Amino acid sequence: MKRKKFIALLPAALTAAKAWAQSADSASKKSLIIYYSWSGNTRSLAKTIKGLTGADIVEVIPQTPYPSEYNKTVSQAKKEVDSNYKPPIKTEIKNISEYGLIFVGSPNWWGTISSPIRSVLASHDFSGKRIAPFITHEGSRMGRAAEDIKKLCPKSGVLEGLAVRGTSAKNASADAEKWLKTLGIL
Ligand SMILES: Cc1cc2nc3c(=O)[nH]c(=O)nc-3n(C[C@H](O)[C@H](O)[C@H](O)COP(=O)(O)O)c2cc1C
Repeated sequence: MKRKKFIALLPAALTAAKAWAQSADSASKKSLIIYYSWSGNTRSLAKTIKGLTGADIVEVIPQTPYPSEYNKTVSQAKKEVDSNYKPPIKTEIKNISEYGLIFVGSPNWWGTISSPIRSVLASHDFSGKRIAPFITHEGSRMGRAAEDIKKLCPKSGVLEGLAVRGTSAKNASADAEKWLKTLGIL
């Protein structure tokens, strides 16, 4: 190869080598499930994924619990989504560097991830990790959850997500298994 051509191709080759090293690195590490659940549906799905993968699991707990009344939480969440608010959370994952693949689970709140999930993504370093999102919803499916996760974790590889209706979350084992197989995780 001519010297000039070789030099021109060098940046692309380095980027490819870095991406390969990152994916090899993340494949050799453990898996973790991080989730938030207001009324239990996403918790059910998170536990199903744990049963299938054996991944470690962490529930995100807000410093101040959301109201128990549905309508109050819906209107508070609307303000938080509109202002991109990240509420203080009790959860700190000190050993995040041990994990290569992170399942991130959330209810769909106003078309995107819930506020506590925004907080956990913004307060930890997800660089070089693969993120597999799973969302429970009542019609909006993933909404713009994947795009918003990418914005919060620009140095992560965001995989295709799993969307499950909240009312079916307790019986989503077959859907979760199919999704994990599609991603090559099972
Ligand atoms: C604050 C709030 C906002 C919601 N916004 C949406 C929405 O935009 N689209 C949708 O399909 N479902 C929406 N839902 C329904 C939840 O996504 C759904 O019931 C989910 O399964 C709840 O998960 P959880 O039990 O883990 O909290 C909303 C629920 C709440 C509490």
